[in-house]
Amino acid sequence: MKILDGKKVSNDIKDEIAAEVAEMKVRGEKVPHLAAVLVGNDGASLTYVGSKVRSCKKIGFESTLIHLPEETTEEELLAQVAALNENDDIDGYIVQLPLPKHIDEQKVLMAVDADKDVDGFHPTNFGKMALDMESFIPATPYGIMELLHRYEVDTEGKHTVVIGRSHIVGRPISILMSQKGKAANSTVTLTHSRTKDLASFTKAADIVVSALGVPDFLKADMVKKGVVIIDVGITRVPDDTKPKGYYITGDVDFDEISTKASFITPVPGGVGPMTIAMLLKNTLIARERHRNK
Ligand code: GUN
Repeated sequence: MKILDGKKVSNDIKDEIAAEVAEMKVRGEKVPHLAAVLVGNDGASLTYVGSKVRSCKKIGFESTLIHLPEETTEEELLAQVAALNENDDIDGYIVQLPLPKHIDEQKVLMAVDADKDVDGFHPTNFGKMALDMESFIPATPYGIMELLHRYEVDTEGKHTVVIGRSHIVGRPISILMSQKGKAANSTVTLTHSRTKDLASFTKAADIVVSALGVPDFLKADMVKKGVVIIDVGITRVPDDTKPKGYYITGDVDFDEISTKASFITPVPGGVGPMTIAMLLKNTLIARERHRNK
């Protein structure tokens, strides 16, 4: 069994980007600038956005955090999005999800300039991705593809079973892994909450990508020997014995399944850090496109 070490690979990618930024500085060029909009005080979102901003600083990007109160109206958020679209200094930005319930998420994502949409959530980017055209690829599925590629995991002709059909992970990873290209050419089955006898699919899978958000959902008797496991779940489980009052766990019963798997991503330290690295990669790409416009 081999660990797919997302922490290490994400650090490699960040080092590669930092080297490019250093060269930009030597050439006297503007460095990439990422902005993040966070509405409200959701604990996990605060952690993710904080981590994204800190990573920018580490690799030499400029970053701006726009933290708006929970009561922000849809109109106010749309005005903020319009301002970011207009601001030539910003190369790319994200609106952290989930948004408070009184705000229409789709409306906000539609308002983001597709050329600055480093999350790859705008229909223009999602559509281009589905049609094999150049686009911003959502950071989490992009990170999974990069991890599979760098560890040379054989995906060609393999049966990949994706659990979960979210717009952020399940849907895009099922498209990417079925496409032609590196870490792809897989035969993909997309399963979800209405799938009957899910275990019959996971037992037949060469690769399982679980993006469900249910701790310890995937058990050893649900997979075959030699399976490749990509655990996208990140759940905070309350635990008073931990300094933060919770611990982080994935969808996969790691101790059981790691004895059967050929490759497995740990949680934490697997897919999570890759998401941030690929967001930075998308921001670098946005800067390059911006410069060449
Ligand atoms: N919420 C959970 N994951 C993500 C992500 O990748 N981007 C944004 N904007 N929000 C998220």
